This record gives sequence, structure tokens and C-alpha cells, in this order.
Amino acid sequence: MGIDPADWNRVAWDRQVARGNRWTRPVDAAAIAAARRGDWSVVLTPSKPVPRDWFPPLAGLELLALASAGGQQAPLFAAAGARVTVHDLSAAQLGQDRAVAERDGLALRLESGDMRDLSRYRDGSFDLVFHPCSNAFVPDPQPVWNEAFRVLRPGGVLLAGVTQPVRFLFDEKRLEQGELVVRHSLPYSDLVHLTEAERAAFVAADEPLCFGHTLEQQLGGQLAAGFVLTGLYEDREPDCALDRRIACYLATRAVRPR
Ligand SMILES: C[S@@+](CC[C@H](N)C(=O)[O-])C[C@H]1O[C@@H](n2cnc3c(N)ncnc32)[C@H](O)[C@@H]1O
Repeated sequence: MGIDPADWNRVAWDRQVARGNRWTRPVDAAAIAAARRGDWSVVLTPSKPVPRDWFPPLAGLELLALASAGGQQAPLFAAAGARVTVHDLSAAQLGQDRAVAERDGLALRLESGDMRDLSRYRDGSFDLVFHPCSNAFVPDPQPVWNEAFRVLRPGGVLLAGVTQPVRFLFDEKRLEQGELVVRHSLPYSDLVHLTEAERAAFVAADEPLCFGHTLEQQLGGQLAAGFVLTGLYEDREPDCALDRRIACYLATRAVRPR
């Protein structure tokens, strides 16, 4: 196909904002007002709220929202008292966070960049990294785990959402029609497993390119980076035929040991 996935995905996510994709729609002013009173809830995966006891107290916390722009979580964290940096590839997605910050008088640091390269941040500069289901947009998640570990201080927490490998086995078009047809193998890549015609249709629909990682890459990758896993739950996409049979998403809590 001859394109870098990050180059394409930057454009694709900019266009998803224009298309109103669910993961590009910011929270409203009422949600920000509630968060200022301590009443907030966020997701790492499609539906289930992240347990509040997965978070340290947010007041004064240095928090990195990694590949998590779109105005859904970062402004809530800022309203609840955290010092928030949003690091994301898409200018339009960062623009959604900027719009909320300007509307509601919040301080957010917005950084345009690839999730695999956090070299602009010093070692140990964050207390919490919040990383929702976004590593399906890079071919290899290991650099993300390694960089998250490096920028967290000892004792710091990584909260991540990941897609289960099984989600990538099935023919996507047939799945949209409720049919479960096994077609692919893992690790999965839109660049390798789709036909030219299918990729062309993806590109025409401004869809980001996706990659399906194994559990060894997702959970083993966090452990290999040096993290200790301290929490895990499963979640489902409500309208997906496969999710009715198996939860296709995982959320993990991991700690950088002291
Ligand atoms: C599904 S959205 C996640 C954001 C959303 N706030 C959420 O709750 O899940 C995926 C995000 O990953 C970002 N992204 C995709 N590839 C990236 C990369 N290589 N580096 C950094 N961000 C990337 C997109 O711009 C988009 O904002």
C-alpha cells in the first residue's frame, strides 16, 4: 500500500472528527461542572466505567492521556484537579480537547505526536498514564509499553484498554451483518490481511488502519516493560455479534514498581 500507518491514521482520525465518530465527541459543560464537584466517570473500553479505586487521588496528579484525545476523558481529569497532558497524533482530536478547555476554562497541555515516541518527556515525569483502546492503530504495541514505563515515576500507574485478539479473527463486513466468519490469523494487520479492494474501501471511508495484537504482546508486553499487573476486567461492545459471545475488550491496571 506504500503508506506509513501513522501518516494515514493522523489524516483518518482528523476526518473521523468531521464524521462525528463516537470517540471524537467531547463531554458537555454539565459533565465538566459535575467533575469539578468530584463526580466523574471515564472508560478505557467501550462501556464499563473504570473503577474509581483504580485511580490515585486526582488533585495535583501529573497525568498523561496517551492517544486519548477527543475531549472525552482529559477535560474531566483536569476538572477533577489533575495536571493533564494529552498526547495524540490527530490535530482535530486534540482540537476537541482544546474546545472543551476553552469553553470551560480548563488548563490542558496538548501535544501532537506518536504514542510510540514520548522522548519529549523526561523519565519519571508522570504519576498516571491513561491509555484507552488505541494501540490497535500501531503495528507493535511494545514501544508504547516501554515508553509509558519510562515516563512514569516509580509507583506510577498505567491504566490501559486493549482489544482482545479474537476480535480480529473474523471477516469485518460479515461481522457487521451479524455473521461470524473466521478469516484471519494473529497478529493481524489491515496492511497484510485485507485485499487491495478492501483497503481502498477503508481509505475511501476515512477508516484508520488497524492491527490486532496477541495477548502476549498486550499483557506480556506490559510485564516485559517492567510493569506489575494489579487489575483486569473485560468489557463488551453492546451491538457487536461477537461481543455477545465473548467480551472483546480488556482493561488493565499496572504499576511501575518502586
Ligand atoms: C479510539 S480513539 C481513543 C480516544 C478516546 N478518547 C477514547 O476514549 O478511546 C483513538 C485515538 O488514538 C489516536 N492515535 C491513533 N494512532 C496514533 C498514534 N500512532 N499515536 C498517537 N495517537 C494515535 C487517534 O488520533 C485517536 O484520538
